[in-house]
Amino acid sequence: MAEPLRFDGQVAVVTGAAGGLGRSHALLLAERGCRVVVNDAAVPFRDDVPSAQRVVDEIVAAGGEAVVSTADVVDGAAEIVATAVEAFGGVDIVINNAGIGASTPIGPDSVHDWRRTIDISLFGSIAVTGAAWEHLARSGHGRVVMTSSNTSFGATRTAAYSSAKSALYGLTRSLAGEGRPVGVAVNAIMPAAWTRLVAGLPPGPVSELMETRFPPEAVSSFVAWLCHPSCGVNGEAFSVGGWRVARVVLAENEGVQLPDGADPAEWGEVAGAFMTLDDLSAPLSSTDEVSWTAFLLDGDVPPEFLPGGPLAWDRRPRSA
Ligand SMILES: NC(=O)c1ccc[n+]([C@@H]2O[C@H](COP(=O)([O-])OP(=O)(O)OC[C@H]3O[C@@H](n4cnc5c(N)ncnc54)[C@H](O)[C@@H]3O)[C@@H](O)[C@H]2O)c1
Repeated sequence: MAEPLRFDGQVAVVTGAAGGLGRSHALLLAERGCRVVVNDAAVPFRDDVPSAQRVVDEIVAAGGEAVVSTADVVDGAAEIVATAVEAFGGVDIVINNAGIGASTPIGPDSVHDWRRTIDISLFGSIAVTGAAWEHLARSGHGRVVMTSSNTSFGATRTAAYSSAKSALYGLTRSLAGEGRPVGVAVNAIMPAAWTRLVAGLPPGPVSELMETRFPPEAVSSFVAWLCHPSCGVNGEAFSVGGWRVARVVLAENEGVQLPDGADPAEWGEVAGAFMTLDDLSAPLSSTDEVSWTAFLLDGDVPPEFLPGGPLAWDRRPRSA
């Protein structure tokens, strides 16, 4: 049996933590000794008006330490981080969890209509992470969790939401590289949990399954592991729910090359080969993808991509 994880002496900022997943993350971390900033701008949804102060009261009543922040993640990121620094002296963990769901069909007003959804999920995560970055680096084991969504795989009528959530994947991959030298790990989750966001699902087998098998606590358990200094995972995304976790990657197949100057019609003839899901690989970075492509085209790798080279080759060709 694994030793229970503790977070004594650490400080976490959890955004959107007045209810649902955020509340559950905050309660678990506090129960394990973490001091928590419970942030929420109290965005009403149907009949529910969440209260971050209520979650702080719950934590304190259970013997934990927490303070409230009601600032907006987009405009008030600096204030949220300042609350942590003033109350607890730093930030070791940021869980970017705040988000809103919205039905957003594409149309002439999409830029206007989609902006708030994208602002909160994407720019809110950028703003809070950016405001906390120097503190996370100072911590020596800073941890950031982005809350993406399985709508990144595609979903109808929620394009603003899924655009923002899938953009968090690229943000996670890239910040992981920036964080590595300073000990900051950045990962993303695509959660599934019974919260007010999904409680409006029409009654039926899916909502019944979600309600009974997908408690927020099942997601928080994995999030806590990602946030612990002992966890070395960095730059990854996971589908998480119902006590199941699966790694999610952006992958490509080996591709097809036509002779120089081929007619556009010839792509149709080889479509079966470039559409296959066989022989997928998941590049570790953009340079990894470029070097892999160079290898497939020429059977050779430019020296600058080889181990020790300025653009280090960080994946061995599968044929090697
Ligand atoms: N529940 C799921 O199955 C599911 C699936 C995929 C993704 N998510 C994501 O998980 C996160 C948590 O969602 P939830 O299901 O617990 O729903 P929720 O509505 O209970 O939680 C979201 C919280 O974010 C807060 N919030 C919204 N905008 C904010 C802002 N600008 N500043 C500060 N706080 C703000 C809300 O007040 C709310 O309390 C969201 O990012 C959501 O998109 C949830």
